[in-house]
Amino acid sequence: MSTPRILDGKALAAAVLDECRAETDALTNQGITPGLAVVLVGEDPASKVYVANKVRTCGELGFHSRKIELKAKTTQEELLQVVRELNADSAIHGILVQSPPPKHIDEEAIIRAIDPRKDVDGFHPENVAKLVLEDPSGFVPCTPAGCMKLLESAGISTNGAEAVIIGRSMIVGKPMALLLVSKKSNATVTIAHSRSKDLPAICRRADILVAAVGRPEMVKADWVKPGAVVIDVGINRVEDASKKSGYRLTGDVAYQEVAPLCSAITPVPGGVGPMTIAMLMKNTLQAARQLSSM
Ligand code: GUN
Repeated sequence: MSTPRILDGKALAAAVLDECRAETDALTNQGITPGLAVVLVGEDPASKVYVANKVRTCGELGFHSRKIELKAKTTQEELLQVVRELNADSAIHGILVQSPPPKHIDEEAIIRAIDPRKDVDGFHPENVAKLVLEDPSGFVPCTPAGCMKLLESAGISTNGAEAVIIGRSMIVGKPMALLLVSKKSNATVTIAHSRSKDLPAICRRADILVAAVGRPEMVKADWVKPGAVVIDVGINRVEDASKKSGYRLTGDVAYQEVAPLCSAITPVPGGVGPMTIAMLMKNTLQAARQLSSM
């Protein structure tokens, strides 16, 4: 038992946003104001908070932003039409449709409709391919990019490390695996998921353990090798009558019991969450730069 290093995503995100602010000023002086459109379909309370934070951060940096809130019963065709209009809008460099959309929406088709040059989420097949190919002109999904930045800035080497990712989503698990296995990072990567046999044993192999499953406090102390680095991507709302909101936020990791074992760990909130927004702003700057140099 020792005191782990707490990877402070809030502070690092603030530093990344400072860099973004300087670059925004430089672009604006060239007559290019970075523009981000965020589309929310429906009323999911967590999604509403995320979208509001994204739009607020745009304002803080001096971006042009558009928040488009659509009713839960919006049709596929109506949403496609919104995406097409944003593709054609020269003031918009980045387009993000908040996930998950309502069940009747075919999310895959919506993602494919986004101009890949404006796909700042990095979800379009063209950007997924660029991630596989390690082509830096593509957009790296924001949450895994933020996790990598947290590791890098803490000086944690991934070289030759055994990394285990719990979760195989297109938003986090799969792109995180690609980043960790890339020639820049050189980790040995295992992607585990709900059907994996003996998940605790797989996790115990990890020098770097990334939890991205969306199940509150699933990762227990006996899943973690002493000295491991633990990245907790989960942001779960659990009922808590003692809070004014009626809930508290907790990660996918049982922080109280796991933290004393780790060499480093991300807290929830204040770990990966703020990094996601900072990397979204970086991606939007990349889009503005790339689109205006075409
Ligand atoms: N929902 C949770 N994370 C994300 C994200 O990074 N992008 C989008 N579009 N939706 C999300």
